[in-house]
Amino acid sequence: MCGIVGYIGHREAYPVVLNGLKRLEYRGYDSAGIAIYDGSNLKFSKTKGKVADLQLKMESEINTSGTIGIGHTRWATHGVPNDVNSHPHFSNSGELVIIHNGIIENYDPLKKELIKRGYTFKSDTDTEVLVNLIEDVQKKEGVKLGKAVQIALNQTIGAYAIAVFDKKKPDEIVVARLGSPLAIGVGENEFFIASDASPFLEFTKEAIYLEDGEMAVIRTHKEIKIRKIHDDSLVDPYVQELQMNLEQIEKGGYEHFMLKEIYEQPDAIRDTFRGRMLVNEGIIRMAGVDDNIDKFLNAKRIIIVACGTSWHAGLVAEYIFEELARVPVEVEYASEFRYRNPVIDKDDVVIAISQSGETADTMAAIKMAKEQGAFVFGVCNVVGSSISRETHAGAYTHAGPEIGVASTKAFTTQITVLTLMALQLAKRKGKISTSDFHKYLVELESIPNKVTLALKSNEHIEEVAAIYKNTKNCLYLGRGFNFPVALEGALKLKEISYIHAEGYPAAEMKHGPIALIDEEMPVVVIATKKGHYEKVVSNIQEIKSRSGKIIGIVTEGDVDVRDLADHVIEVPETIEFLTPLLTTIPLQLLSYHIAVMLGKNVDQPRNLAKSVTVE
Ligand code: G6P
Repeated sequence: MCGIVGYIGHREAYPVVLNGLKRLEYRGYDSAGIAIYDGSNLKFSKTKGKVADLQLKMESEINTSGTIGIGHTRWATHGVPNDVNSHPHFSNSGELVIIHNGIIENYDPLKKELIKRGYTFKSDTDTEVLVNLIEDVQKKEGVKLGKAVQIALNQTIGAYAIAVFDKKKPDEIVVARLGSPLAIGVGENEFFIASDASPFLEFTKEAIYLEDGEMAVIRTHKEIKIRKIHDDSLVDPYVQELQMNLEQIEKGGYEHFMLKEIYEQPDAIRDTFRGRMLVNEGIIRMAGVDDNIDKFLNAKRIIIVACGTSWHAGLVAEYIFEELARVPVEVEYASEFRYRNPVIDKDDVVIAISQSGETADTMAAIKMAKEQGAFVFGVCNVVGSSISRETHAGAYTHAGPEIGVASTKAFTTQITVLTLMALQLAKRKGKISTSDFHKYLVELESIPNKVTLALKSNEHIEEVAAIYKNTKNCLYLGRGFNFPVALEGALKLKEISYIHAEGYPAAEMKHGPIALIDEEMPVVVIATKKGHYEKVVSNIQEIKSRSGKIIGIVTEGDVDVRDLADHVIEVPETIEFLTPLLTTIPLQLLSYHIAVMLGKNVDQPRNLAKSVTVE
């Protein structure tokens, strides 16, 4: 969702801010804006559209010099995407300039009050209300910017990451966060502000991640002052060394981030089990699980909460945990769970899955589960993210930065972590034999190479994509462990090609979707040798006899489905509960190629955001 970038120091701010916005494009947005100040002139530009459009506008119209600057990519919540609603926003006097990621929920009464006091508004945004509220406090109370921001924020309800400066004090930026991420890059007499560290990686490896409810007054040539917004107490800045490098957030020769990330999966899966799975010794070591093993052993059930692709990984995990560890699992959309008064027992273990670690609904579900006494375990990709800090314990997927909005390597690495957890629990509960445990570790270790083999079908998949690229609908079917993969395959196609697609358990086809089948309907069927193979073959026959077009995802060497299907895409053989790690690969590539052929914006699909920080 919205991305924020800021700079204050001795460099020209414009290139830093512009480049930073480009790095944050992956978050999803519909408009962008930048304001640069040189101590006497404020130059700004705002536009609906892409950062590249903003750059053209900014560079053709305005001199961009100045050493303080802020920039924003906006994902519309209050007010349609247009130039006026884009950020930055300005106070009525024109002195205060703000960017904001989040929602001020009580903006309406605040706005009415400000209107009574003579303020006028150009945009429909909650952000313009906030900047005028800060100005109003400044005037009424005669306080400095930092204090005014603090007083104003204490009157708001909602979520925010903000950066604001006052033209009268061009050596200072005030930032604050609640519910939306904010990182401060610390350089030599210069500071960088951003929604994540990617915009400032080439300038500094030192970063401070503000905690929820904190604000900071940042001044060049001075120390950063961080305090709690609520009670004014000072907080010692905790400066972290960033582990990310620039290469990881660049395309590295691939046409799109999504393709790069699909191809990174063998390494990402390997990185995820490295150091945790010691095959020769026949053990798994996961500190987050081992240190809390009693919680897991005593759990009467596991509740998994997540959204989007992470929810699909949760569904795969449900099958794996129940199969191996024989513990009941429920998988919940975080957004439903948090609003439906669920029964949560203190003996429940809640596993929250989130690539970004920032998803607002997942975060709220975690807080609710904690309040009701459950032990909450996080499976996140982004190190230091809000969810990873809010949970009692957790395990990171070591997928590296995922920039493409459509999640790929995050999904397979989430399944990898959850599989390790299920195996560890199964072993500790005595539900699997030592020899099976060892056999499974050996097989899991071979998965990255098998993913590499699955990727070799890329050209064939591209040919299949060319045949079906103009379809209006597509059905995805799978059973057992591969039913969630069918859901995920359909989601990928929807997300980046805007083609309507549905995932279904293959056996449920007879109860409805079969009515849709005719010669116009491609049906992707996951039909690997293990797992109800004969039953899936019968489903394929049912489709065939109704003239549906069949794309079978099959085990290497398969002959039965090959005879029936219009196309088959092979994946290597593996044990049943690990098949999702392989069957997912061709579905990712199929969606990717269709979207590219249709000329869609693969990495930044319309209306979608990488990190959904609003409810
Ligand atoms: C957004 C993204 C999806 C992602 C979902 C959950 O919708 O576009 O790719 O699966 O949020 O995100 P999370 O970061 O919590 O896994």
